[in-house]
Amino acid sequence: MTRLSVNLNKVALIRNARGGNIPDLIEVAKDCERFGAEGITVHPRPDQRHVRYDDLAPLKQIVSTEFNIEGNPTPEFLTIVCDIKPHQCTLVPDAPDALTSDAGWNTVKHGDFLRDVIDRLHAAGIRTSLFVDPDHIMLDGAKEVGTDRIEFYTGPYAHQFVSNPQSAIQPFSEAAKHADQLGLGVNAGHDLNLHNLRFFNQNLPNLLEVSIGHALISDALYFGLQNVIQMYKQCLV
Ligand code: PXP
Repeated sequence: MTRLSVNLNKVALIRNARGGNIPDLIEVAKDCERFGAEGITVHPRPDQRHVRYDDLAPLKQIVSTEFNIEGNPTPEFLTIVCDIKPHQCTLVPDAPDALTSDAGWNTVKHGDFLRDVIDRLHAAGIRTSLFVDPDHIMLDGAKEVGTDRIEFYTGPYAHQFVSNPQSAIQPFSEAAKHADQLGLGVNAGHDLNLHNLRFFNQNLPNLLEVSIGHALISDALYFGLQNVIQMYKQCLV
């Protein structure tokens, strides 16, 4: 069974729009778990326009499933994450002003840097995942630097799925097999939604976890959070 981790960045974005505490991120996280989410993901960005660094400790206290913090491992990010100790840290090479993550790591070029970061996270008892494109050389590099898992950047899959699902999935199912042979756990995320998720999951038998934010929170406007979490989970069975 593939686990559904709900990314709460868009909930924080709505909260931040008014400067108060509506919606309350902590209550939403608890409710997501009550409604069936198997993990909570947050992606604090340096400008803190979504989830803020000061949200992390209260979230860690209440998340009872799996807490996943994503982000670019700046010195500030790493210090906070090693202190909070989430179950998993997903390393993402997004620029400080990026609208959203839009590419995986070059695990060869940044190998020495990533190895140091991963060693530090492991020393703090945190499982690591590296955001990558479905590229065998990048997966070999991910193995070299010692990560436990990789997370496929699925934006290109979602984009191409609309016109040609078969060719959209092909690089991901091949790369997932390669990751399996290397002993890397496989997560995935970005632009996954109620239309493209089932097909993705069916074609990656070793998929461990998906983290989904934008589409899931948008669907919740129509169907409600409780229904939507169940609808996404139905795509993962
Ligand atoms: N994975 C990573 C590394 C991300 O940066 C994001 C967006 O914050 C997601 C997954 C979730 O993407 P989406 O919001 O499109 O579901």
